[in-house]
Parts: sequence; C-alpha cells; structure tokens
Amino acid sequence: MKFYITTPIYYINAAPTIGSAYTTIAADVLARWNRLNGNKVFYLTGLDENSSKTLKAAERAGYKDIKKYMNYMAKKWKESWKKLNINYDGFIRTTENRHKKFVQDFFMKIYKNGDVYRNKYSGYYCDDCEAYLTESDLIEGKCPYHKIKPEFIEEDNFFFKLSKYQDKIIGILKNEDFLKPESRRNEIINFVESGLKDISISRQKAKCGIEVPIDKSMKMWCWFDALLNYISGSEGNFPQELCLIGKDITRFHSVFFTGFLLSAKYKLPKTIFAHGFLTINGQKMSKSLGNVIDPLELVKKYHPDVIRYYLMRSIPFGDDGDFSEEALIKRNNTELADSLGNLLNRVVSMCDRYCDSKIPKAKEDKTLSSKLNFKKIDSYIENYELHNALNDIFHFVDECNKYINEKEPWNLAKNKKIDELQSVLFNTAEALRMISQLIYPFMPEASLKIEEQLGFKHRDIFDMKWGNAKSKGIKKGDNLFKKYETANKRK
Ligand code: MSP
Repeated sequence: MKFYITTPIYYINAAPTIGSAYTTIAADVLARWNRLNGNKVFYLTGLDENSSKTLKAAERAGYKDIKKYMNYMAKKWKESWKKLNINYDGFIRTTENRHKKFVQDFFMKIYKNGDVYRNKYSGYYCDDCEAYLTESDLIEGKCPYHKIKPEFIEEDNFFFKLSKYQDKIIGILKNEDFLKPESRRNEIINFVESGLKDISISRQKAKCGIEVPIDKSMKMWCWFDALLNYISGSEGNFPQELCLIGKDITRFHSVFFTGFLLSAKYKLPKTIFAHGFLTINGQKMSKSLGNVIDPLELVKKYHPDVIRYYLMRSIPFGDDGDFSEEALIKRNNTELADSLGNLLNRVVSMCDRYCDSKIPKAKEDKTLSSKLNFKKIDSYIENYELHNALNDIFHFVDECNKYINEKEPWNLAKNKKIDELQSVLFNTAEALRMISQLIYPFMPEASLKIEEQLGFKHRDIFDMKWGNAKSKGIKKGDNLFKKYETANKRK
C-alpha cells in the first residue's frame, strides 16, 4: 500500500528548534514503521520561503542577496535533519520553479472555476502568523500566538469563495478519520459551523512571494502558496495518507486547504493529525518568543536516538508536553542504558562465555514469546499512539530482564543444564531480534548496533516469526547507551 506522509514546511527566519524537530522526527518514525510493514512510502518535508519573515531575517543577518540567505538556511535545516537521522524522500522549497508554476496554474484553475474574485481587504495581518486576523482573534489587541500587535492593512486582494464550501467542509469533518485527534476535530467543526467567510489569497504590499498571474502587482498569500507544497512536492503521490501538523496550524489545513482542493477538484488527504506543542516551563517554544532549544546543540550532548526516544516516549502523541533535559537523562539512564543496554549486554556476554560466541538453537519458549504482542503495538502506531507503542516495547524489555533473573542462566551453566541454558539464550536473543526491529523506527542506530552484536542481518521488512533468526555469531561491542550525569549530580 502507498503511504504518503508530510510535515508542515517550516519558515526559515531561524534555524530549526526542537519543536520543529518533534514533528519531523514523528513523521520519520511513522515513515520508517510503514516501510518495515512493506508499504510504498513517500515522506515529504521542506521549507516555506516566500514569507516576509524570510526577508526580515535576511536583512537582520546582513544578507544583501536573499537567495544566499535562503540557501544558507536550507543547508542548515537539512543538516539538522541529517544529524537527527531523518530519512525523508522528498524535500520542497517554495522558491523552486516546480512549485511556483504549480501554484500559478492552481490559482488559474480556481479563478476560471469562478471561485476567485477581486475585493478590498481591510483588517489585521500578523506577519509572524502570515495570517489575517479578526478582532475576535486578538487578545488585548495582540496576536494570541506571537503576543504582538498585528498591522492594520487596507489593500486590494483576490478573495477565495470559502463560504461556498461551508456545508461540504462540515460533511468532510464529520468523518472521524479526516481530522485527528477528536478534540481538534470538535474545535474545527465549531469554527466552521459558526460561519465561514471568504478569505483573501493574495497580498498587494508583500515584498516577496509568487506573482499572481492575472495581476503581477500582487503576490500570492503565503499560506495559499505554502499549502500547495503537498501537491507540488509530492512527485505524483498526492493525496497524503497522513498530513502531520502541529495544532497551531489546524485551521489552515483542515478548512482552507480543504476548500482549495474542493474548488480545484483534487482528492483530499486521508488524515490530518495535529499534535501538541512542546513547551518550556509551560510556554510554547517558538522563535518569536525566544525560548527555543536548538536540536544541533542538543545532538552535541546526546545521541540522536536518545532525543528521538525521549520525545516520542514521554509525550502522549497529540497532547502538549514539557521538554526537560533532566527527564531525558533519567529516561536514558534507566530505560535505555539500564534496561535495554543491559539486556543486550547480558545476552551477548553469556553467548560469548557459554556458547562459543554463538547463539544456540532451541525451541520457542512461549512463556517469553507470548509477552510480546506485535499486532497490538502495530495498531498503536496505526492510531498514532506512538508513546503507547514504546510503552509496550519497553514493557517487553523488562519482561526479558525478569526472565533472565528468574532462569538464572549462570547457575544453569554451573550445574551443566545445557538444554535449559541454550533455551534461555536462544529465546532472549530472539526477543532482542524482535526488539531491534520494533525500535528501528524510533532509534535506528541503536537497533542496528543490537543486530550487529548479535550477528543478525538488518531486514527492510518486519520478520516477527519467532525462530527465524540466522546469526553470523556474536560480536561483543560497546555499551549500547552511555549514561549521562543529571544536573543535580553535577552541582
Ligand atoms: N510555514 C508554516 C507551515 C506551512 S505548512 C503548509 C509554519 N511554519 S513554522 O515553522 O512556524 O511551524 C511549523 C510547525 O512546526 C508547527 O505546526 C509544528 O508542527 C512545528 N512546531 C514549531 N514549534 C513547535 C513546538 N514548540 N512544539 C511542537 N511543534 C512545533 O507554521
């Protein structure tokens, strides 16, 4: 089956934050999981460059040539994704010709359909949201997200007849699969039911952006341009099986984008999933608020596997969650180093010592194998409950350690109970083979290290059949995870 997954395209007025990394990692986990399930995956991410924010940031950074600034930032974003082991298939920048041409053609299509008309816009515009705001959106006269006073603008614009699609959009939103989680869907249904107004899709005073073909004095509205990346960058894979976004941009995706697609007669994404915010001390982490954590700095301190694991395990997917280095260190030291790292260490050392550096052959021990429920873990991922999938996987890791403690293979060796000893080592090695496959989407490097130490070949498709292992022999390596000191200890 095909699985086309996208992240939002990010603004390049600053380097990535751990917030944008969060979305990109989650999409990577889902893409890798789907590849292991044999699906034909296309994972698209990219950059939203046609924004006045880009222009301002380039000026601030002293760039005269905006193109140079854009290329510099694109390199920086790609470098961050590489350091975090993000394995995307497509990367789109909205300044690319393939995108520009697509947006202009799309505009002409909906214009010819009679869904676009010229009118005066007068109202607020928040440059940081790149969005038109109404009086009721403001809190104490300020943008609720960026806490700044939006500009009041009056200009000639092209409007899209969004109101015409109100009933159709409500009908689409009634489908539970279209927008998740449930809380977001209810919020958006309320918003649409309160009455959709036509929206402006061009800007007269914008200094950068894609020209409107029928009036070159205007530029496309940044969001109209940006949302279309999911088609222009899809290499024929549109619509998405999963359009992954942060909750802040749900309205743009589930209402505006839907309207555009209905007008141009494109198919709709199967699911839009809006995850929560990473916060720092309860506040949204954002470039504009200046409380950001740079993932490039973080990977200097912690292995990318650990960062990926911490983010996916500690925040129920869909909810907000606070980022804390202390919590990351704690999870690393206990769940990764002590539980998983130690399990590998024990099995590898005992096979080395008692079985001539080989994994012995034995029968499946159902008391252990029955503790792993692959179908359940797979269905968690299907439901975007990434944290629950990890909970189950690590519960199984604990079961494996318990199994070893109870069987006491060191005593079986001492008492020459060879069959039993071989059974314990075969079954725990087999369990580790399962675990290495299951954690691959979350922690690709740790997974490969487990397979290497146990002499297993890495597989591109899940092989969860107990007993299928073929090992080249044990190759003891370094500890899987190193421990970090907590700040409390450091003091
Ligand atoms: N350019 C638009 C998106 C256009 S998509 C057609 C945009 N860019 S953004 O860079 O400001 O943010 C995009 C996304 O980054 C958010 O929707 C979210 O997925 C992610 N995040 C940015 N900060 C975040 C947190 N603090 N926490 C979680 N995700 C965050 O909006």
